[in-house]
Amino acid sequence: MQTPSGHPVGSTSAARLVVLASGGGSNLAALLAAHDAPGYGARVVGLVTDKPTAGALDLARDAGIASAVVAPADFEDRAAWDRGVAEAVAVFRPDLVVLAGFMRILSPSFLDRFPGRVVNTHPALLPSFPGAHGVRDALAHGVRVTGCTVHVVDAGVDTGPILAQVAVPVLPDDDEASLHERIKVAERALLVETVGRIARDGLRVVDGRAVIG
Ligand code: GAR
Repeated sequence: MQTPSGHPVGSTSAARLVVLASGGGSNLAALLAAHDAPGYGARVVGLVTDKPTAGALDLARDAGIASAVVAPADFEDRAAWDRGVAEAVAVFRPDLVVLAGFMRILSPSFLDRFPGRVVNTHPALLPSFPGAHGVRDALAHGVRVTGCTVHVVDAGVDTGPILAQVAVPVLPDDDEASLHERIKVAERALLVETVGRIARDGLRVVDGRAVIG
């Protein structure tokens, strides 16, 4: 796949990753820790956040990675904010856009700008428990096993083709925080591994299924 930056995903030069995050950024930190490894195949080149207070901004700054804050309050309406996010991402010429704890839904017009090149990490085993409270909803349902999912983003909420999943057991005395922390340990490893595989081998969606390689 040839991308606007001119980098064929799956080639030997590092794919350009733009990370979107709203929170503390432990998934961003995991990508930053991985991207110097020889042969990883991808490099974080920019962070875009909707939250001026996101901890992810500090991580990016400390790593020397450029960032942009695109706060909804600074835009006239939702459509203008959507365009603002797309512009902020496009400046970094991404080969792959990684939603790592980005807590807003992106519009179809955003996805059209980066077709088949936006992936998301979600703290549940999709298609169960989509949305903003995947950990809380799984706990409330009483499941014994939950986990995390990395998937290609489509126009739905956490409905896109699944790339990879890891199961995490729910322990009897888990609360939302303890369960989420254990999921995030698995999630960081899964995200780093999956993004690296995409960067090295390429990503296609065939008949609604995500295929790496
Ligand atoms: C992650 O668990 C991610 O899956 C979740 O937010 C957390 C961000 O952690 N995202 C969602 O719930 C999106 N629906 P981080 O800021 O430490 O990377």
